[in-house]
Amino acid sequence: MGYPDGNETGTYLSLDMGGTNLRVCEIVLLEEKGEFDIIQSKYRMPEELKTGESEELWEYIADCIQQFIEYHHEVENLEQLDKIPLGFTFSFPATQTYIDNGILQRWTKGFDISGVEGKDVAPLFEAAIAKRKLPIRLSALINDTTGTLIASAYTDDTMKIGCIFGTGCNAAYMENCGSIPKIADYNLPPEMPIAINCEYGAFDNEHVVLPRTSYDVIVDEDSPRPGQQAFEKMIAGLYLGELFRLVLVDLHDNKSCNVFQGQDISKLRKAYTLDSSFLSLIEEDPFENLSDTSNLFKNELGIITNKPELELCRRLAELIGTRAARLSACGVAAICKKKDIKSCHVGADGSVFNKYPHFKARGAVALREILDWKQGEKDLVSILAAEDGSGVGAALIAALTIKRVKEGNLAGIRNTEGII
Ligand code: GLC
Repeated sequence: MGYPDGNETGTYLSLDMGGTNLRVCEIVLLEEKGEFDIIQSKYRMPEELKTGESEELWEYIADCIQQFIEYHHEVENLEQLDKIPLGFTFSFPATQTYIDNGILQRWTKGFDISGVEGKDVAPLFEAAIAKRKLPIRLSALINDTTGTLIASAYTDDTMKIGCIFGTGCNAAYMENCGSIPKIADYNLPPEMPIAINCEYGAFDNEHVVLPRTSYDVIVDEDSPRPGQQAFEKMIAGLYLGELFRLVLVDLHDNKSCNVFQGQDISKLRKAYTLDSSFLSLIEEDPFENLSDTSNLFKNELGIITNKPELELCRRLAELIGTRAARLSACGVAAICKKKDIKSCHVGADGSVFNKYPHFKARGAVALREILDWKQGEKDLVSILAAEDGSGVGAALIAALTIKRVKEGNLAGIRNTEGII
C-alpha cells in the first residue's frame, strides 16, 4: 500500500525467486533521501529443483540465504544477530490476504514443484529458515512487477506501471482501494493506492482474442501447465527460442520446403535447446552474408546453412521478436486505457527488455499505434529501464510495511511479532 517517500531507512534482506536465478541481497536504505547501498549474491536455480519436491526447494533457498549471511556477517553464532526484515520476491500468481503471505495459485514459467500449489508459501519458507535458526523475519512477499513499480517510483514519481519482460511477462500498477470489490471488507480508505499484480501472462487463456499459430499450440500442449499463461507463451523469453526451433523442425520435416535437407538436425530436435539469446544473436548479426548466424548454427547445432536458409532464419527471428514486442506493448497500453493515463513512465526489467535487440523500439512503435499519438508528437508513455525491483523494491516494501505497523496501521499484515 502506498508509495515510498524517499525517507525510508534501515537494513533489509531481499530474496528473489522466479526466473533463472535465485538472488539474495542486503540493502541499506540510507539517511540521504532516495539513496541506498546494496550487496548481492546470485545462485543458479538447478533445473531439477524446478520440477522437484517442495521441501527440496525451501531447503535450497534457506541454504543460499545462510551462505549469504555467513559470508557477509562475521559472526560465530547467527542467533546473536537481530532479526533482519526480509522482502521475498516470489514471482508467481499468489493470493494475498496479507502482505506477508501468499497462496500459490499455480506455477508458471516451466516450474512444476509438487506440494506447493494451493498452499501459503510463507510458512513453508519460514519453517526452513527456523530450522537453520537464521536471523530473519519475513516482512513482505511481493511480485517482481510490484517491486519494479515501487523501486522505480522511488526515484521517478512519473512511474505508474512496473513491467517484467523476461522469462515471463507481467505488469503491476496502483489502484485505489475503493475500486477493488474483493478487499471491501478491509474498510481501507477508498483513495489509498494499493498495488495490483495483473498476472496478465494469463490473458486470453480461453483463446478467444489472439490468433495462435500451430507452433503456439505445441508450446502450450507440451508445457507442464497446458491451457495456462496463453499470452506469456507467445511473448516471454522462456518461449521465444522454442517457437523458433519448432518452426525450423517443421520446415525441415516438410520435405517440399527444402530446409536443412540432408543434414543431421538431431540437436535441433531437442525441446528448449535454444533460448532467446540465440534469436538475439541472429537479429544482431551485422554481416550482409549473415556469417555470425552461419557460425551459430554450425557451432551450436552442427548444421551447415546456405544463404536462403540463413535469410529465412533471420526473418523468422524478426517475426518472433516483433510479435513479442508488439504484444508486450498491448499489456502496457491496456493499463493506460483502464486508468486513463495519458502520459507516464513505465519501469521495465527482465532479460528480453534489457537484451533483446530492437525490443524497446518495436514496443514503442506499437504503443504509438495503439494509443493514437499524433504524428510528430513525442512518446507520451515511455517504457524505461527500471530500478532493481526484486532487490530494492522488495526492501522498500518491507520498510513500508514495518512503518505501517509502527504507526499502528495493521491492515493486511499477518506477523507483527518483534516490530511492536
Ligand atoms: C509470470 C508470473 C508472474 C511474474 C512474471 C514475470 O508471469 O506468473 O507472477 O510477474 O512471470 O516474472
